[in-house]
Formats: sequence, C-alpha cells, structure tokens
Amino acid sequence: MTEVDLSNQPIPEVDIAMEELAQHKGENDLPIWIGVNGLVFQVNEEKRHMYQPGTGYSIFAGTDATRALAKSSVNAADLEPYGSLEGLTEKEMNTLNQWISFYKKRYVIVGKIKKD
Ligand code: HEM
Repeated sequence: MTEVDLSNQPIPEVDIAMEELAQHKGENDLPIWIGVNGLVFQVNEEKRHMYQPGTGYSIFAGTDATRALAKSSVNAADLEPYGSLEGLTEKEMNTLNQWISFYKKRYVIVGKIKKD
C-alpha cells in the first residue's frame, strides 16, 4: 500500500480535553487517538492493532504520550506530568521531535489538547 505523507497537513482548531482523549483507547468502536506535544493524532486502521488494549504500546492510546515517547519508555509512570517538557534532556527532546515528525507524517491530526 502506498503511504500518504501527511507532514504538511493543517492543524484543526479543535480543542480536545484529556477526558475526551481518554475515550479513544481502543476499548470501543471509536478510533484510537494519541496526544503528542499538544496535538492529537488519529491512528489509522492499519496500525490500530499496535495500540489496542493489551498490547505493548497501548499505554500511549487515549492519553498524552509526550514524555514517555521522549524517554523511549513504555512505562505508564513516565507519561506524567502529562505533556510537560520539564526536565527532558537534549537527547530526549531530539527523540521527541523525531516522534512528532513521525506522527505528523503518518496520522491525521484531529485537534489540539485543551489546556486546563
Ligand atoms: C527492544 C525494544 C523495541 C523493539 C524491538 C521495538 C520494535 C518495534 C517495531 C518492529 C515496530 C513497528 C511495528 C509495525 O510497524 O508493525 C515498533 C513500533 C513502535 N515502537 Fe517500538 N520497539 C522497541 C521499543 C520501543 C520503546 C521503548 C518505545 C517507547 C517509546 C517504542 C515505541 C514504539 C511506537 C510508539 C511504535 C508505533 C509507531 C506506529 O504508530 O506505527 N518502541 N517498535
């Protein structure tokens, strides 16, 4: 299958609360969403299986995965404080930026994480 490069897609002016994001863990028929650095990405059907409940990467589904991605961690404790870049090393910031590019290229952006 030819992959479409979505890198230059527009960012919709849609605010998504953490509670709404949490509805998108793949436990129902809703699409899986992943928050990264303030943006919410929708995992496509082909990759849904990677983030389904019970799989290794399910901790990223329906939440703000920023810090765990930066830290190359699949440990839920490393998600918090959600979305914060505080204390991340330069190396972790580089890793995070690579993930941001990866998600932007591959997955449709559905909105922005609503700040409290
Ligand atoms: C020994 C360690 C690891 C191995 C062998 C590994 C292997 C893989 C492989 C083969 C894929 C691609 C699967 C596919 O496209 O069908 C993948 C995807 C992924 N890996 Fe890992 N991984 C490892 C560690 C980690 C860690 C520590 C993280 C934490 C950030 C991570 C995050 C991810 C994510 C988020 C994806 C999914 C990307 C997508 O949406 O397609 N991986 N991994």
